[in-house]
Amino acid sequence: MLIAKSFEMPNIDLEEIMRHLTETGKRTHQLWLNEDSLAFIARGREYRSEFHINPSYEIQYSLKGDLNLHYREDGVEKIAYVPEGSCLFQPPLVPHSPRFAPDAFQLVIERPRQPGEIDTFHWFCPNCDNFLHEETYIVSHYTNDPVGRAYDNFFNSLEHRTCKKCGTVAPGRD
Ligand SMILES: [Fe+2]
Repeated sequence: MLIAKSFEMPNIDLEEIMRHLTETGKRTHQLWLNEDSLAFIARGREYRSEFHINPSYEIQYSLKGDLNLHYREDGVEKIAYVPEGSCLFQPPLVPHSPRFAPDAFQLVIERPRQPGEIDTFHWFCPNCDNFLHEETYIVSHYTNDPVGRAYDNFFNSLEHRTCKKCGTVAPGRD
């Protein structure tokens, strides 16, 4: 019979983590990362507009505040509403953009990335929905804040934010 003898068993005070994120201004805090499971708490980003495509499922639990999960199905943008206290299971490879306030918090649980797996971020024109820009990343650790770095590359480039079809410039971060 197999029995675990030596192990880590994270048991986390979520209120304390939410307080920590509010006080430090940080956007994410990783709770654990092991072979099978990755969990973190995220605070909303008011400027969030990109769609994330990743090879893992995602469990999105609205700890505090409501979530509007924008997602794209067959190229059409849709919204799944996840009120505080509700939980959404999202299959792998769904382009999704979780929109929630900076004082709202999501608990996110995913499968860790396997070697060679890539996370992709897509932006679309806010006027005509034309594809604007892609960023790709290998996510090894959420403390590296891959979403934050993808944002820097997009927002710091007027060229990336300018629609080649209608000329609209997607809003900046400030
Ligand atoms: Fe456009």
